[in-house]
Amino acid sequence: MSQPTPLRLGIAGLGTVGIGVVRILRKHAALLEARAGRPVELVAVSARSREKDRGVRLSSYAWEDDPVALARRADVDVYIELMGGEGGAAKASVEAAIGAGKHVVTANKALLAHHGHALATAAEKAGVALRFEAAVAGGIPVIKALTEGLAGNEITRIMGVMNGTCNYILTRMYAADLPYEAVFGEASDLGYLEADPTLDVGGIDAAHKLALLAAIGFGTRVDFAGVEIEGIERISIRDIEHAADLGYRIKLLGVAQLTGRGLEQRMSPCLVPATSPLGQLEGGTNMVVIEGDAVEQVVLSGPGAGEGPTASAVMGDVMDIARGLVLPAFGQPAESLKSAPPARAATPAPYYLRLKLLDRPGALGKVAMALGEAGVSIDRMRQYGHDEATAPVLIVTHKTTRAALDQALEAVARTDVVEGQPVAIRIETV
Ligand code: NAP
Ligand code: HSE
Repeated sequence: MSQPTPLRLGIAGLGTVGIGVVRILRKHAALLEARAGRPVELVAVSARSREKDRGVRLSSYAWEDDPVALARRADVDVYIELMGGEGGAAKASVEAAIGAGKHVVTANKALLAHHGHALATAAEKAGVALRFEAAVAGGIPVIKALTEGLAGNEITRIMGVMNGTCNYILTRMYAADLPYEAVFGEASDLGYLEADPTLDVGGIDAAHKLALLAAIGFGTRVDFAGVEIEGIERISIRDIEHAADLGYRIKLLGVAQLTGRGLEQRMSPCLVPATSPLGQLEGGTNMVVIEGDAVEQVVLSGPGAGEGPTASAVMGDVMDIARGLVLPAFGQPAESLKSAPPARAATPAPYYLRLKLLDRPGALGKVAMALGEAGVSIDRMRQYGHDEATAPVLIVTHKTTRAALDQALEAVARTDVVEGQPVAIRIETV
């Protein structure tokens, strides 16, 4: 009987994720072969430094200094890009692999968010797979869920917490009553951070992921530029604590929905009910909530980053290829993906406001009047004790548009009873 043909892999990038993949390939060689019906073998690797001790033996694999050369090797069937970066070596090598007729697996959300449509088009023309499960929500098989398990649904909304670093920082600030700066370093020690951490705390990394899920869910071309992004850098421990007093948690929340006004994609700090699954999400865990017309709601949660979880997602893609499954990258042929205009304004929502009110007769009345004149209605309000001259006032509004709220806040700023800039954070219905 003839032996099954092995699937031969080349990995570029031997950092957190790359080494995780090497470890799985070594530890589970027999299990992978049994499941794929053929051996799954690593043949060649690439990184910047050949000398670095990476804690695993790499001498049995061919070494390439240049990832593009690795991507084109005749003995590589699947090129696995785990270097990162929106362009540079990652883009050049993925393009080279597709050009050479190799399947591609990557964890690189920046690359896909910026060049996903062109790469998917090229991969489909070449008849090869372009897979990126590990790029979104680490170990959670959310792309597989969307493209396969939920393929019979019209997707109505996708939302979630998709950056482990930010969720770690926000939940740890609350649990330990620590300021933002103090917990940032801890997230780094846990290996969650991107090489450029502003991608994490600035909301950009999570926005990359949301743009990819939106494209798959709504059958639209990836539109990263259309995501409204706000990071967590300005979230204070005071707001986290006040939100908790009102029954909420603050999360860096992504929301995407296709509306009559266009494709709405937002990645921003939001209040969510403390008792909701999203509100209860702790540490580096990610959660993606998918709503479809038939299934109603599916909630997926799991580790969003780190060596094992991310390598697990890479291997899921490799195993699909080993089994002969080649699907379009975004769940339908790239040429059939629609261009959806970005929605010009977010769906109306209630907002949390925090103001520092001066201790003067009629001060509260002036604020209420300014809000009311802009059409913003107050749902509930709480005033805390005065420090010397001011008192924090929390207001939860009824649903309003961001435009009306901004107009109201401008009017509030023109009164002479508020000190500093009011804080406004959207409250999301989850
Ligand atoms: P990392 O630890 O910084 O590793 C990057 C690796 O790429 C290093 O081995 C580096 O070589 C190599 N490299 C960089 N530029 C190269 C070049 N021009 N030529 C050859 N090799 C090059 O990064 P990581 O955390 O593993 O992340 C890899 C990818 O996975 C990124 O796209 C990231 O966004 C994504 N991702 C990461 C996680 C996570 O939890 N870490 C989760 C999901 C997705 P040297 O070691 O020699 O410097
Ligand atoms: N920096 C990312 C995070 C890694 O914190 O979620 C996983 O994509």
